[in-house]
Amino acid sequence: ILHSVSYTLLCFLPVLLIPATCKLITVCIEDDNDLRVDCLIKARPNKIASYEFSWSSGTVESVINTNVSGSSPEARFRDKSTVEELEDGGYRMTLTGFTDTLPHNTTYMCKVTGASDDITVEKDKLIACSAVTFLIKSSFSWFISLLVFFFYQTHH
Ligand SMILES: *[C@@H]1O[C@H](CO)[C@@H](O)[C@H](O)[C@H]1NC(C)=O
Ligand SMILES: *[C@@H]1O[C@H](CO)[C@@H](O)[C@H](O)[C@H]1NC(C)=O
Repeated sequence: ILHSVSYTLLCFLPVLLIPATCKLITVCIEDDNDLRVDCLIKARPNKIASYEFSWSSGTVESVINTNVSGSSPEARFRDKSTVEELEDGGYRMTLTGFTDTLPHNTTYMCKVTGASDDITVEKDKLIACSAVTFLIKSSFSWFISLLVFFFYQTHH
């Protein structure tokens, strides 16, 4: 819950986080050096849920993991990636063994039931997932402090 509330805050209050755009996709590196892509697009309730994670560098798009019927991931990713459903909606894809050999500039894409988002991240700019969690938590508590402050100001 805290997680989804904070993501929403980050979308509507870009002042709290310097890169202003609200993205439904985040990319980070886990402690064990796996690449994690979180896709926060929620499946529409009346549709069959499906997901597809892919990336491209240059013009070539490679499917990493998918359960869209009729679509399949590239063979090199087959035993290397897993997808789990996120509690608050959306999907998390984890990819093992490619972090060190990423091209300089990679565009990560995800699709959930037809809706899609993408983000381009340079290899050097990938951050640790632990840092992301910290950032979200700290901007959330920052926001609460701000609310308390305004509440206090207007009621005294
Ligand atoms: C894809 O996976 C999700 C989550 O496991 C599941 O709910 C959905 O039905 C799957 N979709 C297809 C087309 O198999
Ligand atoms: C990386 O990709 C983005 C978006 O396609 C592009 O604007 C940027 O110039 C690229 N950077 C490098 C160093 O190639």
